[in-house]
Amino acid sequence: MAITTNSNHFIFIFLLALFFFQSSSSSSYINVESFGAKPNGESDSTASFLKAWSQACRSGEQATIYVPQGTFLVKPVTFDGPCKKKVNFRIDGTIVAPRDYWSLGNSGYWMLFTKLDGVSVYGEGTLDARGSFFWHCKKAHQNCPSGARSISFSWSSNVVVSGIRSMNSQTMHIAIDHCKNVIIEKVKIRAPSGSPNTDGINVQFSTGVTISHAIINTGDDCISINQGSTHLWIDHIACGPGHGISIGSLGNFEKEEGVENVTVTSSTFTKTENGVRIKARAQPSTGFTRDIVFSKLIMNNVFNPIIIDQRYCPGATSCDHHQNSGVKISRVRYEEIRGTSRSKVAINLDCSASNPCEGIKLQNIKLTYVKGSETSSCINAAGTASGYVIPKSCL
Ligand SMILES: *[C@@H]1O[C@H](CO)[C@@H](O)[C@H](O)[C@H]1NC(C)=O
Repeated sequence: MAITTNSNHFIFIFLLALFFFQSSSSSSYINVESFGAKPNGESDSTASFLKAWSQACRSGEQATIYVPQGTFLVKPVTFDGPCKKKVNFRIDGTIVAPRDYWSLGNSGYWMLFTKLDGVSVYGEGTLDARGSFFWHCKKAHQNCPSGARSISFSWSSNVVVSGIRSMNSQTMHIAIDHCKNVIIEKVKIRAPSGSPNTDGINVQFSTGVTISHAIINTGDDCISINQGSTHLWIDHIACGPGHGISIGSLGNFEKEEGVENVTVTSSTFTKTENGVRIKARAQPSTGFTRDIVFSKLIMNNVFNPIIIDQRYCPGATSCDHHQNSGVKISRVRYEEIRGTSRSKVAINLDCSASNPCEGIKLQNIKLTYVKGSETSSCINAAGTASGYVIPKSCL
């Protein structure tokens, strides 16, 4: 008899535990449809997403917002913190922006995650900003809004973006600003090659950013790294079409923070305008970049495989090409870079007369011009070459 009671107790406690476990885990898994989001691509699901966020953010345990299969229409939203615990955003469906580009165009962002410590956006899903009418407007120089970034993270730490696809952003697809400890992995970014300013991933004022195993086809830089970025690791990127991976433009401001300790490795560039580029505006600035490594890269038919451009001056408003760039570039290593160049000058190091490049290293480079003999060009650039260097080093 005593034994039966004990085992009954045991079963009772077991069921009770199971009940609490299940109820707690279901409360931390928040389907946006339970807040009224409709997967029909037409109903505005913005308010439902925000309600889901607010519940997840207030949750005393790690919560996961779930966007299931289907198409959800969402207007500009801010997912802001601080939150009690880490918040996960699992996207398996498709999130689309409204067709009218004015709806995003003036906010500067579509989805903004801000002031968070611990946020993860992942899944097999897609974000489609439907930017094509906006690009047409800009190209036609009509009265257009300034444009929105698709996914932005600002003032946050411990950020993970994994697996998702971002398409047709009005401007940058993924923007990291004032963040710490960021991992972006296995993302796929796609916009047409002619789409203006649709950078794949942009980083600024951030430290400890890893970007890996990404496929980026776009109309501007695959990855751009701006002022105040330190300790970046970038590997296994398939870039192209696009403008390559750029540090800069730097020197946009007279007082500017530097870019330090960036590695780009094990990546492929296919039919891009540039491979690895450092660009700085031709005007005075406190900006600098140093301790940069570009290694194990393959260039397939790339116009400027290796380029430093300190005469950058688009639109020629405040600067002109003959002004010296104040940006100091030093300790940049190019190693194990091979493939084909679509222009004759496969290595082009055009540095500032007042701030010459120092500590440039070229090692084991083989870049051949597709239509003849390749050359290298150095202006105000100092450093060393070792191993084989084709085209012949100008350092
Ligand atoms: C450079 O950045 C990497 C992360 O990409 C980090 O592991 C390393 O410690 C940094 N090096 C220095 C000297 O800070």
